[in-house]
Amino acid sequence: MLLPIYAYGQPVLKKKAKIIDAKFPKLSELISDMWETMYFAHGVGLAAPQIGLSIRLFTIDTIQIMDEDKKEEGIKQVFINAQVIEENGDLWPYEEGCLSIPDIRGDVERPQKVRLQYVDENFVKHDEIYEGINARVIQHEYDHLEGILFIEKLKPLKKKLIQGKLSDIKTGKAIADYKIKFLRV
Ligand code: NI
Repeated sequence: MLLPIYAYGQPVLKKKAKIIDAKFPKLSELISDMWETMYFAHGVGLAAPQIGLSIRLFTIDTIQIMDEDKKEEGIKQVFINAQVIEENGDLWPYEEGCLSIPDIRGDVERPQKVRLQYVDENFVKHDEIYEGINARVIQHEYDHLEGILFIEKLKPLKKKLIQGKLSDIKTGKAIADYKIKFLRV
């Protein structure tokens, strides 16, 4: 089932998300709805707060954006109760976007590597190091669990330049080619 994506301005996007356990109601249905919603919106990742649920769950598929000869370097994974253990490596800029903030993109600097502890959809524990694009998408989705949006990490001038578009999103004047739930419509 396609779920509406909560737009910039929705309070759930600014909350710190909660840990869940395996008894969370209809979890496998929720995960399959998140995959469907993410692919329909042409997203690389989707975090539960973006569909209005303040829980520590996100889905990522970077295989889609890897070059043809590097597909095996991509990941398609469900991350539950993720905790960043450490980030290291040089900061590098990459142009990010977000399904909750349609039509805005901008360079964000983040460390190259991230070590993450999480459980998968079967609640099996993992402790892994990711780098490059995989790390990048994980860091972006992880920020959603902490109530942080990529636009908060843009350079001051860029932040100024997007103010108009942001207020359009907040007031429901923006458009997206997927179902989106604005704060005021
Ligand atoms: Ni996002």
